Amino acid sequence: AAAPRTSGAPTHTSADADLFAVERRDDGIAVVRFAVPGATQNTLRADFAPAFETLLESLEHDTEVIGVVLVSARPGSFMAGADIDMLDAQKSAADVEALSKQGQAGFRRLSKLHVPVVAAIEGACLGGGLELALACDVRIAADTAATTLGLPEVMLGLLPAAGGTQRLPRLVGIQAALDLMLTGRKLRPAQAKACGIVDTVVAPEALRDEAIRQARFAGKRSLTGSASLFGRARARIGAGVNGLTHAALEDTTLGRRLLFAQARKRTRSKTRGNYPAPERIIDVVATGFARGVQAGFDAEAKAFGELAMTPESQSLRHVYHATEALKRTTFVARNVKARAVRRVGVLGAGLMGAGIATVTIDKAGLPVRLKDVSDDGLARGLDHVQQFYARRVAKKAMTRAQADRCLHQVTGTTDYSGIGACELVVEAVFEDLDLKRAMLADVEAAADACANTDCIFATNTSSLPIAEIAAQAKRPENVIGLHYFSPVEKMPLLEIIATEQTSKKTIATAVAFGKAQGKTVIVVGDGPGFYTTRVLSPYLNEAARLLSEGAGVRQIDQALTDHGFPVGPMTLRDEVGVDVGVKVGPILEAAFGERMSAPDASQRMIEAGHLGRKSGKGFYDYTAKTKKGEKRPANADLERLLAQQRDGGRAPDAAEIVERCTLAFANEAAHCLSERVIREPMHGDIGAVFGLGFLPFTGGPFRYIDAVGVARFVDRLHALVERHGPRFEPAPILKTMASARSASHGRFYS
Ligand code: NAI
Repeated sequence: AAAPRTSGAPTHTSADADLFAVERRDDGIAVVRFAVPGATQNTLRADFAPAFETLLESLEHDTEVIGVVLVSARPGSFMAGADIDMLDAQKSAADVEALSKQGQAGFRRLSKLHVPVVAAIEGACLGGGLELALACDVRIAADTAATTLGLPEVMLGLLPAAGGTQRLPRLVGIQAALDLMLTGRKLRPAQAKACGIVDTVVAPEALRDEAIRQARFAGKRSLTGSASLFGRARARIGAGVNGLTHAALEDTTLGRRLLFAQARKRTRSKTRGNYPAPERIIDVVATGFARGVQAGFDAEAKAFGELAMTPESQSLRHVYHATEALKRTTFVARNVKARAVRRVGVLGAGLMGAGIATVTIDKAGLPVRLKDVSDDGLARGLDHVQQFYARRVAKKAMTRAQADRCLHQVTGTTDYSGIGACELVVEAVFEDLDLKRAMLADVEAAADACANTDCIFATNTSSLPIAEIAAQAKRPENVIGLHYFSPVEKMPLLEIIATEQTSKKTIATAVAFGKAQGKTVIVVGDGPGFYTTRVLSPYLNEAARLLSEGAGVRQIDQALTDHGFPVGPMTLRDEVGVDVGVKVGPILEAAFGERMSAPDASQRMIEAGHLGRKSGKGFYDYTAKTKKGEKRPANADLERLLAQQRDGGRAPDAAEIVERCTLAFANEAAHCLSERVIREPMHGDIGAVFGLGFLPFTGGPFRYIDAVGVARFVDRLHALVERHGPRFEPAPILKTMASARSASHGRFYS
């Protein structure tokens, strides 16, 4: 039916005009537009409660209204979640629990309104924002790039606490709801429709009219309601357990128990007990099914209060705040303006080059000229980009037409045609100083031919000092390091390395470019290994020493992954390539001495051709056939080799492995701060967590040292010096801080 004409200007505006504006239309639909005053994003805050209650009160008493539409007045932001600062300001678990109960009560009241409520979603609809939408009867999403839906609370060590843990499983099924809440994954509109969170996806210009139309015809739903509501999306959930579908399992008490038990087991094997939130999420959902919705709500509020006070959540919130702060940092004076980048060249279409090309197209929306030395190399790189978009289409993250438009943004070449005109060229060819210098000279010549003397040459080297690559450059001010991490599409960090000669404008341009690619950017000083490769090195070396002292390959990995590293050092070295690490080692050892030296097992491994995953054998044996569930065996040849070398002393245990590796890592981070390789502890924390997976629940090495206490941390290092030698000597900055021994001076963060 065609929408009746509205009566022009809103007939009534609520008292709190800034937050909610209500337009009452002649057809009985009340359109509630909301925008948080003075903010760029809508976020939920407790002090909105009175205005929300006033709004609900006026709607409850309105006998003319037949339906309500909730729509954001702020483009690109429906509601991005609860205000984290508000949470940080709470003093006790009880205060946080009370916040949750307030949110629950407001949304429950909304869900009980006598007329249907339609959420018209455009922009970020996350956390509390999605919980608001879940309390509505119908959800319509606009198909825009900014529209994402999800419950990311788990990433902050929390859970959805405004009814989300109860409403979502009843809307989309337990399995799908747990998946969203435990991963914190964000969905694009089509994905949200596929799993049943939104009812309709429309073009952005049709959002409002479609919402009004549906508000007129929608019916009411209730939380405890019917099987049809509960079962809507379950048919689409994949196969279940023991021949039963998940839908069938979710229908019976016994089946649900089985599902929750499995989810707990899977979660526990991932979190290793280091993160309390995921298990609490499962508990709270389970409570709602075992003891009813109200008990579920109560459990949700209580768990929220307790989780908010855990050190894990506080650390994850620290990481969140640091990331937000880095988004606002340009790393140069305000008056330095970045150059506009319109075209990007990428040299080397290998693993890294193809990934860099992909994020440049996909996130920054810029055209890429991709060059490789051979047709085969180029074809592999282009295929990588194509595969990326094929996966996006398969996951319904974009349409085929959108993907094709993106794919047109990349062109390939085996010569320098089209490279000289690019404002920025990133090289990702083999790790070889002479080759990289040759690339730089070629790019400068190509740029000269296009009178493009501002062209920035960025190198993705993982270890070579940028100044050495730039030593023969005509324009060293245009040379910079852009160190990406593999896989580029997934890893959030970009470490930018500026030399003494890199111009501020080049830094500003590189920072803006990295942010446009969706990366969290830190800028660090030049030197062997910069920051990330340098802190990783003593950690990996310590693991190698432990191995030579009799610890097992798997034992070392297990100890450190149990402690919270995403992968163990042995697996990491196999992935990177044993030979690659051995190339970097001497460069770092020459600069920093013993703590950077690797025991000689890796040299012997290379001689035996055991280079890691790529050669079939490294620390592990990738050629061995393993049954499902069975762990990959360690490389037996290596174990024999090591056994010959061992002195028969006591083999290290898990606690010692963790102590030596973690302290070596954090101490090196402090060395980097002492030497101003990093400017602030916060940059070091983010680099370590996002680039290397350093124990996210600690918030990074500097926050970890703060938590231990600098004086105690130094004592622990001294104990290691006594047993293992001077490589554990505390970084100068730690000694200074520890000698102050006062609470305010002995911390990296106040
Ligand atoms: P890769 O071996 O996968 O790719 C290198 C590509 O460069 C190959 O396709 C090769 O054909 C091409 N190439 C070689 N010479 C060339 C030339 N003259 N012109 C154009 N293309 C040429 O290597 P990967 O892993 O992508 O590494 C590239 C760079 O990125 C290295 O400097 C490496 O140290 C660095 N890096 C690697 C990381 C990783 O995890 N693999 C992480 C961070 C940096």
